[in-house]
Amino acid sequence: MIQSGNENLAPLKTEALDEEEIIIEQTLRPQTLLEYIGQTGVKNNLKIIIEAAKKRGEVLEHLLFYGPPGLGKTTLAFIVAKEMGSNIKVTSGPAIERAGDLASLLTNLSEGDVLFIDEIHRLNKAVEEVLYPAMEDHVLDIILGKGPGARSIRMELPKFTLIGATTRIGMISSPLRDRFGATYRLEYYPEEDLQIIINRNSKVLKANVDKTASGELSKRSRFTPRIANRLLKRVRDFAQVHGHDTINQDIAKKALQLLEIDALGLDKNDRRILETLINKFSGGPVGLNTLAAATGEEEDTITDIHEPFLIRLGLLAKTPKGRVATEAAYKHLDIAPPSLAQKTLL
Ligand code: ADE
Repeated sequence: MIQSGNENLAPLKTEALDEEEIIIEQTLRPQTLLEYIGQTGVKNNLKIIIEAAKKRGEVLEHLLFYGPPGLGKTTLAFIVAKEMGSNIKVTSGPAIERAGDLASLLTNLSEGDVLFIDEIHRLNKAVEEVLYPAMEDHVLDIILGKGPGARSIRMELPKFTLIGATTRIGMISSPLRDRFGATYRLEYYPEEDLQIIINRNSKVLKANVDKTASGELSKRSRFTPRIANRLLKRVRDFAQVHGHDTINQDIAKKALQLLEIDALGLDKNDRRILETLINKFSGGPVGLNTLAAATGEEEDTITDIHEPFLIRLGLLAKTPKGRVATEAAYKHLDIAPPSLAQKTLL
């Protein structure tokens, strides 16, 4: 359930990462804030908070990172621990089932350790109740016995830093949110930053990727470094099989076509969501549960992975009545938008 130290970096994610991807993430993951590209605002704030804590000789405050998957929340947690010279222990909300699980995690920490809880929005209430005094006063309240005879004992814990990560800030209870010293929102990456990451990582992977290819890959990476790294690997495989020493735009395009990733970076599932909205529901508005049932996707997958990306591209909009496909979505899928007359009839 819990991993500790830097030898065991496998991240626990809502979206399953296969073994190869975990290895890619580990080899390509930047180790310091200096190496970390993008998220300038977050980085500048982290630099200050880390330097100030170090100057005072204090343990770093609890931090919360939120934003869509693949933007580097886990990476930043590892960097923060490293910059503080601390050990990091990694777990996730769903892995901590009982209050006792958390108690054993907390009592095994040493002064200054970082405890990273991924998907922290999935902690259950009983576990959260144990976390509050641990975060605030570094104490663990243990209830002994049951019923009227039950009594509680208080145990001192070493001072530690909790780093929480979530894709769903709205699902974090306010008492938990209030106990973090700082909260940082990770933004989607602009293409320029993704291209820098792809250029850097292609060197690590010893792939000869020219500027036209890294430009093409950065356009189709869903504004997400994890996807950029995934595409880079797939394009490298394609070039290897076809005997190309250098990867140029043409080769990148062919590899991406085989992966069914289109010019804007949409995959088959993104397109199916939009096509369902348009073909089965006249473009919407349609509720999330109906859309999930009609596409066969999990609601969480739609809200966490597809929707933020499609909204960012302006292909989907959320209205009080439900999701709608925008005119740009019709255009992108080459479907004739309903005429004004049809719209008024609907
Ligand atoms: N690899 C994945 N994300 C990265 C980032 N933000 N900076 C540098 N390399 C990365």
